[in-house]
Amino acid sequence: MRQTLITGTGSYLPERIITNDDLAARMDTSDEWIRQRTGIGQRHMVAEGQKTSDLAIAAGEKALEHAGLNATDLDCIIIATTTPDDTFPATAATVQAGLGASNAFAFDVQAVCAGFVYGLDVGDSMVKCGKANKALVIGAESFTRILDWEDRSTAVLFGDGAGAVVLEASEDHDGWGILSSTLYTDGRFKDILYVDGGVSSTGTVGHVRMKGREVFRHAVEKLSSSMEAALKISGLEASDVDWLVPHQANLRIIDSMQKKLNLDENKVVRTVHEHANTSAASIPLALDTAVADGRIKPGHVIAFEAIGGGLSWGAALARFGKP
Ligand code: UT7
Repeated sequence: MRQTLITGTGSYLPERIITNDDLAARMDTSDEWIRQRTGIGQRHMVAEGQKTSDLAIAAGEKALEHAGLNATDLDCIIIATTTPDDTFPATAATVQAGLGASNAFAFDVQAVCAGFVYGLDVGDSMVKCGKANKALVIGAESFTRILDWEDRSTAVLFGDGAGAVVLEASEDHDGWGILSSTLYTDGRFKDILYVDGGVSSTGTVGHVRMKGREVFRHAVEKLSSSMEAALKISGLEASDVDWLVPHQANLRIIDSMQKKLNLDENKVVRTVHEHANTSAASIPLALDTAVADGRIKPGHVIAFEAIGGGLSWGAALARFGKP
């Protein structure tokens, strides 16, 4: 049976770093509050004129290099983003041209912080059904562009960046590749995490608004149930997971999930202290960090999970690399 292998990863972070102390100098907050409540120590921020597509292209180039592919080998590019360059065309079209991926069709997926698990599922489906043989899935965000710097309850939480994975079809996979994926949405909760602007509502871009405590309450419960479902579909147990690579919104949520899954704390990839919450980019950024530093190796079972505005959430399991 046709399977989808994850054969390459890459990431890119803008050069500019904003520390908690930098924020404390401009708003009523402190390094202590931010670290205690979220685990965040710093975030990267796009430069003037730097766009989401620029971040995505840089991450995509690295993932292609890691997989040993040329851009022209790709037949599908999916960008998960909630901060596109423009209302249209899709940021993916700009990325396709920027990479020189002339044989690929390209489109965006919008599921906010759950964007990467959605994009991965769509890419996997494209590969499994034979629509694509080689796909690039990128989570890319310039999230600081939609922050209200007067609102300390959200301004301290987010950062910018991009992460990418290469997916390749394989008939000879020995049980490697993407093993299961679960996606969920409950639009009844759209008002607890949203942007107060949009094309057909206000005609403006808007700013992030969040009832943090309510989102937190949903997060642990929904991440747990979606991970349980993904484990069941794959036929694996939590004890089979080598690495949990979770969405990086809050260290307390990440640690709760580690405990719920009864995982050793050294089996969790944590980047929230350095990257903050980069929305759809956070999982592939964390994945690439742990692949690059040698923690995640070919053959390891990886668990992904994320929740964000919508509410939208999901989980996925994969045996990383190619046999
Ligand atoms: O990626 C999408 C998914 N998003 C998430 O998963 C986020 C989930 N939520 C969270 O991570 C947490 O709810 C937050 C980190 C956003 C907030 O932590 P919290 O422990 O829920 O704090 P809170 O919102 O209940 O606020 C506690 C206090 C409040 O003061 P009072 O009313 O107790 O006097 C806030 O005004 O902390 C105050 N506060 C701050 N103080 C210093 C809020 N933001 C700040 C700040 N600095 N930046």
